Amino acid sequence: MPNKISTDDIGTPAYYEMLRQEADFWERRARGEVDMSLAATRDPELAAVVAGDLLAHTLDLAVARGKHILELACASGDLAIQLARRGCRVDGVDISWGLVREGMRQIATRHQAEHWPGAVNLFVGDLNRLGLAANTYDVVLAIAAFHHVLDLPSLMAQIEKSLKPGGALICLDHMEPSLAGRLLRYFFLFILPTEVPYWRKPLHIFNRLMARVYKYLLPNRQAPAAFVLPPRSPFEDITGSEAIDLIRQHFVVESYQTPQAFANVVAGHLRLGSREREIKLARRLRKLDDWLVQHIGVRGETYVLSAHKAQPS
Ligand SMILES: C[S@@+](CC[C@H](N)C(=O)[O-])C[C@H]1O[C@@H](n2cnc3c(N)ncnc32)[C@H](O)[C@@H]1O
Repeated sequence: MPNKISTDDIGTPAYYEMLRQEADFWERRARGEVDMSLAATRDPELAAVVAGDLLAHTLDLAVARGKHILELACASGDLAIQLARRGCRVDGVDISWGLVREGMRQIATRHQAEHWPGAVNLFVGDLNRLGLAANTYDVVLAIAAFHHVLDLPSLMAQIEKSLKPGGALICLDHMEPSLAGRLLRYFFLFILPTEVPYWRKPLHIFNRLMARVYKYLLPNRQAPAAFVLPPRSPFEDITGSEAIDLIRQHFVVESYQTPQAFANVVAGHLRLGSREREIKLARRLRKLDDWLVQHIGVRGETYVLSAHKAQPS
């Protein structure tokens, strides 16, 4: 697998191999085979404490804008089903054939049993190379999608083409943390009890720094085991805030918020000996995080954005 991949590599065997690994990663994650112990999502209550109602709010934004929705990176369609329950007709696209097949199986069974007013259709496609029909959708919904996409200019052009005039692009995603967010994250990881015992923290920081040296400065050298970062999907964070610049070029942005500067990451690492204490501390960190974002202007690493395609003049 190449260490660096660019849009010129799209269509090459190396690119397809990375896409296969990407799909495989998300399928293993859906089967519970990927270690999630350092993510706040390891515990639904902890996840709710740090993420609040961001997801529900994003889905509300989409539903308010029309019934015909395209969901990008839909995985096995859990969010699409929630939208269908609210009367939407959703097309979902994902690179993983395994997740799409599992989703279609679930949809067939649950649609019959639950009689949703809407409908869901999932299909396999690569967000880097979509070929969408023009003027079709009221809404394009992108939740945790853009940061996996190498060729954002191609995807933005496709989204613009597929939206009806006035149609909405609604996204919830993450980008690279701000410097303040990063420093706060490291500070709290250092002073709070985490999965790394206090006596090992200096060595842990050194190992992580060296892992980045190998990854970015010596990409062709085999790193010693201690300097290897935990496994991620091959396209994880392949892009970040450039998605927002491109959205501004293609669409009229209506609202843009950047919550979650550090608490979402720190919460996943907390180890206080009891779940209740971890949740209580995560709640306090979240309050501080919200305050820093709202009152001091620290930029969070999550963005919730709504925009629309301009009407022809
Ligand atoms: C973080 S998950 C998000 C799933 C869902 N949107 C959610 O929020 O629960 C990322 C999803 O993106 C999909 N994905 C990654 N790269 C893709 C690509 N190039 N084209 C289409 N889907 C892709 C993965 O298969 C995975 O299902």
